[in-house]
Amino acid sequence: GAPVEVDISNLKPGEMMTVAWRGKPVWLINRTDEMLVDVTKADSEVADPHTKKPFTMPLPEYCNNEYRSRAEHKNILVAVGVCSHLGCTPVQRFQEGPQPNLPDNWPGGFLCPCHGSTYDLAGRVFKNKPAPQNLDIPRYMFTSATTVVIG
Ligand code: FES
Repeated sequence: GAPVEVDISNLKPGEMMTVAWRGKPVWLINRTDEMLVDVTKADSEVADPHTKKPFTMPLPEYCNNEYRSRAEHKNILVAVGVCSHLGCTPVQRFQEGPQPNLPDNWPGGFLCPCHGSTYDLAGRVFKNKPAPQNLDIPRYMFTSATTVVIG
């Protein structure tokens, strides 16, 4: 598939946008510093913190770090929104306040509505969930401070 160019100039901290790439939803999330702290906190709670067993594509070498993002734009997460269990699209759970169906210590991230897999704010699946693998991170680059090219 062709690369997709995305203008993120309107993507505010704490917000997410979705674009289509190779027929799949790709999320771009402008994580706040607080959200990045939540990623670090989730390290011991996720099944594969360093993505040793990627889902359908290898983790890009420049995203092989604690936030699974490019170091020069570490706040921006780019992830494929396809659950590694049976392919549903997880939903964001970081803008809606208290979450009645989730544990008190829920650090925020994504919930798959199909069978309840949960992912952190770096797209890493939590332990003991039906989904076996983290969300895919596609190859991407910044061609300006606010332009991301995926693929
Ligand atoms: Fe996501 Fe089953 S498809 S938990």
